[in-house]
Amino acid sequence: MTAQVQEPLNIGVLISGSGSNLQSLIDHIEEGTLSAKISLVVSSRPDAYGIERAKKAGIPVLVMNREAYADTSAANQRIADALKVAGAEYVVMAGYMRMVTAEILNAFPDRVVNLHPALLPSFKGAHAIEDAYNFGVKVTGVTVHFANADYDKGPIIAQQPVEVREGEPIEALEERIHSAEHELYPHVIQLLAEGRVSVCPETRKVRISN
Ligand code: GAR
Repeated sequence: MTAQVQEPLNIGVLISGSGSNLQSLIDHIEEGTLSAKISLVVSSRPDAYGIERAKKAGIPVLVMNREAYADTSAANQRIADALKVAGAEYVVMAGYMRMVTAEILNAFPDRVVNLHPALLPSFKGAHAIEDAYNFGVKVTGVTVHFANADYDKGPIIAQQPVEVREGEPIEALEERIHSAEHELYPHVIQLLAEGRVSVCPETRKVRISN
C-alpha cells in the first residue's frame, strides 16, 4: 500500500500588527506540525512588525496603507486578486483590523478564517480581551471562525477557554490568551489542510470529521 502524500495547504495571511500569530504559523510549518505554505502576507499597515517576520521567513508581502483603504471595495479587490495570483486556497486573518468585504468573501466562499481573542458571541469587536476583563467574566478564551459579512458572527470552528485568575492584571490574562491562540490557530489550520472542516449548508454549523 502506498502512503498518501498530502500537499501543503496554500494560505494567505492577513495581518495589521505584531504578527505573533503569523509567527506561530511559520514556526509550526517549520517544525512540521502544520502542513501549509504561506504564499502571501497582506499587511493593512506599513509599520506592522509582522512584515519583518514575513520577510525573515522569505514570504512575499503586500503592504497596504490608509490611502489604499480610502476605497474599501477597491482595496478588497486588490487583496483578493493578489491572493488568487498567489494560489491561496484559504485566507487566514491573524490580527487583521480591517473589514473583509464581498470582494474577498465571494472569491473565497467559506474559506476565510478569523481568530478572535474571546469566546464568541461574547465580546465582539476590536477590544475583546479588555472588554471581557472589565466585565469581570471568570472564563474567557479564543475563537476561530469563518468570516462572513456579519462581523464576528460567522460559523465557529473551534474555541479554547481561558480562565481569568483571581486578581490577576490584564497583562497576565493577555499573555495566556495569546499562548492559547498560538496553539489553537495552527491546530485549526491543520484541520483545514486535512480537509476535515465543513459548514453544513442548512444549519451553517461547522462539522469536524474524524
Ligand atoms: C490577536 O490577539 C487576535 O486574536 C486579535 O488581534 C491580535 C493580533 O495579535 N484579533 C482581533 O482582535 C480581531 N478582532 P498578533 O498580531 O500578535 O497576531
